[in-house]
Amino acid sequence: MEKKAFITGASSGIGAALAEELAARGYTLFLTGRNETRLAALAGKLSCRWRALDLNREADVYCLEEELRAFQPDLLINNAGLGSLGDLDRMDPGKMDEIVRVNCMALTHLLRTGLQVMQGRRAYILNVASVAGLLPAGPHMAVYYASKSYVTSLTLAVRQEMRERGSGISISALCPGPVRTRFDERSGVRNALRGMDAAAVARAAVRGLFRGKPLIIPGLAVRASVFLGRLLPRGIYAALISRQQQKKG
Ligand SMILES: NC(=O)c1ccc[n+]([C@@H]2O[C@H](COP(=O)([O-])OP(=O)(O)OC[C@H]3O[C@@H](n4cnc5c(N)ncnc54)[C@H](OP(=O)(O)O)[C@@H]3O)[C@@H](O)[C@H]2O)c1
Repeated sequence: MEKKAFITGASSGIGAALAEELAARGYTLFLTGRNETRLAALAGKLSCRWRALDLNREADVYCLEEELRAFQPDLLINNAGLGSLGDLDRMDPGKMDEIVRVNCMALTHLLRTGLQVMQGRRAYILNVASVAGLLPAGPHMAVYYASKSYVTSLTLAVRQEMRERGSGISISALCPGPVRTRFDERSGVRNALRGMDAAAVARAAVRGLFRGKPLIIPGLAVRASVFLGRLLPRGIYAALISRQQQKKG
């Protein structure tokens, strides 16, 4: 039987790696992103459908919801996202809005539509959050960290709603630490920590989502830091994160 996956943010980084991983597993794909050239090149390589749209625009989000309804995937991956390093009061308001619109609003709309489309079937949804979404706060990158906390909270809440209804839809959040993609450069991070390879993150994500894990945290070191962090008072942990964030600028 044909298996179909719909991936946002597939023109680059983790989304592109997820597309490659799922294509290798025999999935029929629908890829979306903003950069037409990159998207067309990957879709050509993987022989799949694609559509370039800007999730910062309300009208484009609605278009993508229509594409999602028409495609009827068994797997939806909400991966598109962006960040920006810097203090809130010095942040460009357009960038601030874009982070909230793409990371939170567009994801919520697509999640809601995905649930409606998949109702009554065995299906999977993966929301790409970040380890940032499991930490108490992210000084100097506050909006991004808060947006990812939103994604983990939303994912776990909706997952529970589906379980209570006996739904066949399994929803997971992917929470990677640093990953080697264009994300840091685009976020204004100059001194990035050496991250994981995007392909390794994609493999861990696909394994975890089909096992029905609620939170998928690739990499032992990242899992250990999340666990140890829970033992610290939140204020002290936020101060430690702040020191780390300041080194990135
Ligand atoms: N890299 C990391 O260290 C890291 C760690 C944890 C979580 N994450 C999360 O992983 C996800 C993927 O990021 P990445 O690391 O792969 O970064 P990336 O290489 O910059 O890829 C981001 C993807 O999101 C798409 N996107 C951004 N803004 C968009 C918009 N307005 N409309 C449509 N698509 C948009 C980009 O499309 P275009 O390229 O076509 O503009 C691209 O396909 C994000 O949600 C990010 O928060 C990343």
